[in-house]
Amino acid sequence: MLTPSHRIFVAGHRGLVGSALVRALEKRGYKHILTRSRTELDLLDQPAVRAFLMKEKPEYILLAAAKVGGIGANMAFPADFIYDNLMVAANVIHSAHVANIDHLLFLGSSCIYPRQAPQPIGEDALLTGPLEPTNAPYAISKIAGITMCEAYNRQYGRSYRPVMPTNLYGINDNFDTENAHVIPALMSRFHAAKIKHLPEVVLWGTGTPRREFLYADDAADACLFLLEKDDSLDLVNIGVGEDIPIHDLAQIMSETVGYRGKVRFDTGKPDGMMRKLLNVQRLATLGWRPRTTLREGLQQTYDWYLRHQTGRP
Ligand SMILES: NC(=O)c1ccc[n+]([C@@H]2O[C@H](COP(=O)([O-])OP(=O)(O)OC[C@H]3O[C@@H](n4cnc5c(N)ncnc54)[C@H](OP(=O)(O)O)[C@@H]3O)[C@@H](O)[C@H]2O)c1
Repeated sequence: MLTPSHRIFVAGHRGLVGSALVRALEKRGYKHILTRSRTELDLLDQPAVRAFLMKEKPEYILLAAAKVGGIGANMAFPADFIYDNLMVAANVIHSAHVANIDHLLFLGSSCIYPRQAPQPIGEDALLTGPLEPTNAPYAISKIAGITMCEAYNRQYGRSYRPVMPTNLYGINDNFDTENAHVIPALMSRFHAAKIKHLPEVVLWGTGTPRREFLYADDAADACLFLLEKDDSLDLVNIGVGEDIPIHDLAQIMSETVGYRGKVRFDTGKPDGMMRKLLNVQRLATLGWRPRTTLREGLQQTYDWYLRHQTGRP
């Protein structure tokens, strides 16, 4: 089990999840945290990854590096999404094995479950049906990573643990409206509307689809909780277990940002899936619950956004 004396490599430490993992480790008193920026170590470069792991010999790898983006980015760059994520997973997982590193955490994502999975989505829904076509390249690369973890555990007795977080948001998120996920995209749009005194913000669809959102620091806390307390290697969903309609999210977002105009839904535009909620029974039974409410998480994210404006410092 993970303890503060272990040497840990956090891959992707500048990203949303990676930075939250580093904060969570530091908060718990972990002292031996290794990080490398992409310019110092490109995880697409297999010889470099292998040499780094052979030299540094971390005891745990938390693999939070990936090519991640919203629906627009997934549709515009499908080749990049499948190539980068397959290669990062293959390079890091295989090199970890070659370097005789026993423990690894691999991040999947709720969006790789089948499109028609029964709600709330249990871990056993993986690979039971067709994927959402818009992000299938991303999903297939992530499913390959999860399957690699299981294969290396079975063949070599490794402890490579896959987890499945829901939609995450927070500090260090990507606020570029072209590539962003729902929360950072909405936050930057409401912020821009406030600054420009626009009378309304128009959002796609009816506002009725429901989504689940977890603060990234809570997701990081759940990851460490699992590594510290639970020695099973089964896939575990990480989520809130509750969802909210997009129109409620828009309302909370406009209050958080202090936008005083109207929110209008363009009902001629598509809604997307009506619901995407994880079943978090497995994690709840182990004794973990999220700590941060959506309002608190959005406020902390907005405070950070105001300090850094364009997203990444
Ligand atoms: N965001 C979500 O809502 C969400 C939900 C569920 C699961 N997840 C999972 O969590 C993981 C992390 O996602 P995130 O949202 O934290 O993404 P993110 O904010 O975009 O961070 C990803 C990090 O990976 C780094 N990276 C990407 N390719 C690299 C490479 N070739 N070499 C070295 N570093 C590389 C990026 O470095 P640069 O800064 O240099 O680009 C970035 O720091 C992913 O596996 C994702 O599937 C995310």
